[in-house]
Amino acid sequence: MQTAADLIVILGTGGTIAGTAKTASDGVGYTAAQLRVEDLLAAVPALAGRSLEALQVAQLDSKDMDFSTWQRLAAAVHAQLARPEVRGVVITHGTDTLEETAYLLHRVLAPAKPVVLTAAMRPATALAPDGPQNLFDAVQVAAAPGAAGVVVAFAGRVHDATQVRKTHSYRVDAFESADGALVARVEEGAVRLLGRWPAGEALGLARIERPADAWPRVEIVMNHAGADGRLVQALQTQGVDGLVAAGTGNGTLSRALDAALRDAEAAGVKVWRSTRCDAGPVMDLPGLLPSAGALSPVKARIEMILALLGETS
Ligand code: SIN
Repeated sequence: MQTAADLIVILGTGGTIAGTAKTASDGVGYTAAQLRVEDLLAAVPALAGRSLEALQVAQLDSKDMDFSTWQRLAAAVHAQLARPEVRGVVITHGTDTLEETAYLLHRVLAPAKPVVLTAAMRPATALAPDGPQNLFDAVQVAAAPGAAGVVVAFAGRVHDATQVRKTHSYRVDAFESADGALVARVEEGAVRLLGRWPAGEALGLARIERPADAWPRVEIVMNHAGADGRLVQALQTQGVDGLVAAGTGNGTLSRALDAALRDAEAAGVKVWRSTRCDAGPVMDLPGLLPSAGALSPVKARIEMILALLGETS
């Protein structure tokens, strides 16, 4: 007998959503990644009665996210989505590198079923924690008719993994989509579609199967007043494989940084230009170093790592 796919699997990875503080009024001096994903679900009675399963994949502050956790998480998401009874996956995560994990999962899995990342800016012990509402909304998004692809549900908005960025260090609506391009809003549990669910071609899990300590080393260097390129030279001596320049404006670089990056490129280092601006693409122009398109520096870095893994596998 065919079972309806109504199961939502919640994968826990830590973050402030699972964080605790000594006092309820302490919104910054807390420790992230203390509570298990089952505890997070228990704090959302409105989810009782839903078909849910919880699995702890990691327990970390996402500032410490690493390649091996990404490998484990991507494999867990893939395995859960392959179960016919699973409708979608929700991932609880820290806010700090959430956009990177979302982008990696989008590029590696590009799932036809929804994968919804969520998080919180306030610890679970706060006077008014935002985690329970975000988790509730994320489950609604994962269960929404037609939902697909990797998205981020946060503060009532649903962001495309390719567009989303953390743009505020403290506010509870800390995320924005580039140029305001939201996928949907969640209003009283109802998902109101505004754009399109993300889609793409999956690179596949095999692309990231190499042992994490053998992944290419790609670093980000920023253009700024006085950028003299010496950082690039230092990185070259350490055997860096790729460099993403977070340029000014349309990916512009000081003369010295441009020269150092061109020397690195000539020596075999992959070099792309992105922008340190909050939004907007970097145009590819003749004679300039290659652009990273509309990717932010951190997402361009992931894209380059995946490209280098593909070139050398
Ligand atoms: C983290 O990213 O794990 C800590 C900060 C947060 O979740 O807001």
